[in-house]
Amino acid sequence: MKLVFATNNKNKLKEVQALVPSTIQIISLSDIGCNEDIPETSPTIEGNAKQKALYIKEHYGYDCFADDTGLEVEALDGAPGVYSARYAGEDKDAHANMDKLLKELEGKPSRKAQFKTVIALTTHGELKSFTGICKGTITESKKGEKGFGYDPVFLPDGYSQTFAELLLSEKNKIGHRGQAVQQLIEHLS
Ligand code: IMP
Repeated sequence: MKLVFATNNKNKLKEVQALVPSTIQIISLSDIGCNEDIPETSPTIEGNAKQKALYIKEHYGYDCFADDTGLEVEALDGAPGVYSARYAGEDKDAHANMDKLLKELEGKPSRKAQFKTVIALTTHGELKSFTGICKGTITESKKGEKGFGYDPVFLPDGYSQTFAELLLSEKNKIGHRGQAVQQLIEHLS
């Protein structure tokens, strides 16, 4: 089975490819000739995932799945949430985003946070969604070189290493995207 994953983010592709069985072949947006920025204008993570999946179905004709992820920080009332990519500005700079987050959390009593991923799937004229959540805390400083985005400042509950210090297989086992992908795989099989 071939399925388009509505992303050109190499890190996300790597994570998802490592999870799906060999019977499912993941195709990226560049593989279908799509190199444009897909609109993500919804005020919710769920809404953005659905918007991306429907956009590809409508404009390129492929059944596909899309993910949208946000980091929700308790002491910041759920921010940056759906605005995680552009938290520190339009250039989506991961280090600037983390620097801003660490600054905003200075002196705050709670550093609890969670990653939330919603995967939206369009197949046979239907739209389904799957949600994965990973709870943890925001560290005082960046640690680790692996992963992407906010991984160097996210310490998953029960672990002493950030997502950026863990192996991809470990992040996938407990992570938000991994959980949502497992539900997607169960649905597809
Ligand atoms: P997106 O809109 O799903 O691409 O992601 C929104 C923001 O969350 C981007 O800044 C990403 O770098 C960040 N992000 C998404 N997934 C992860 C992850 O697994 N770890 C760390 N940051 C992530």
